[in-house]
Amino acid sequence: MDAARKADDDIKRRLAELGPWFQNIHVQGVPTAPDHFLGDYPTFKWQGFKEVVPQDLAGRSVLDVGCNAGFYSFEMKKRNAGRVLGIDADPHYLRQARFVAEQTGLDVEFRQMSVYDVGKLGEKFDLVIFMGVLYHLRHPLLALDLLYEHVVGDQMLFQCLQRGDERLPQLQENYDFSEWSLFDRHDYPKLFFVEERYASDPTNWFIPNRAAMEAMLRSSGFVIDAHPEREVYLCHRSERHYAVEVPPQIC
Ligand SMILES: C[S@@+](CC[C@H](N)C(=O)[O-])C[C@H]1O[C@@H](n2cnc3c(N)ncnc32)[C@H](O)[C@@H]1O
Repeated sequence: MDAARKADDDIKRRLAELGPWFQNIHVQGVPTAPDHFLGDYPTFKWQGFKEVVPQDLAGRSVLDVGCNAGFYSFEMKKRNAGRVLGIDADPHYLRQARFVAEQTGLDVEFRQMSVYDVGKLGEKFDLVIFMGVLYHLRHPLLALDLLYEHVVGDQMLFQCLQRGDERLPQLQENYDFSEWSLFDRHDYPKLFFVEERYASDPTNWFIPNRAAMEAMLRSSGFVIDAHPEREVYLCHRSERHYAVEVPPQIC
């Protein structure tokens, strides 16, 4: 067996040992999740919105929350970002991320941490990536409030599974207590609660429609600057809604 063939076999063996993989990343040319149910995920998704992220992130710090095997963290590093930190609650995915970092030589730090603990970081980041995590959380608004309070210094790149009506309603600021029919409108902001499973996943808890997702971002203090494709938003930090209480320091 020649050296190149042996190296390829070694990578394949390591990838299999570290599996199963959710993100398909090419490590020394070998795909980590070639049979992903969504296709070449997240690459095909990234192609749809990569234009909204600056080509050159020189000097900018990035926090990738729910980083999984680090796909977005690595893409930010390839765009010349300064400090890049990926956090995830699941050590299985962090082992994958660290292996990819080692193989690619991309300087990204990975730490096991829940989104609920971001206050412990004690620093703000120029760009926070929060993709594909919100609907896995029992406390989605708390997570947005904590990100706003502790780590989002400027921008947030955000994605959340959405189901239901895709229209945005024109709503009054207030309605009378006797108004009921409003809640039967399909386009009214709705957050669906999944008691058991959706897509076979028992951690898919809350799934918003589009109106609810955008309203939740706004009320948490984020202004939506771009909506390059379904479910994906680039926001910047602004004023949070006057009625939102500052979240407790969960440390
Ligand atoms: C659907 S994957 C999305 C991964 C990646 N952000 C992407 O868009 O491809 C959800 C990720 O969130 C992580 N996660 C779930 N709950 C979390 C929490 N409370 N804090 C941090 N990460 C969490 C999971 O371990 C998983 O890696």
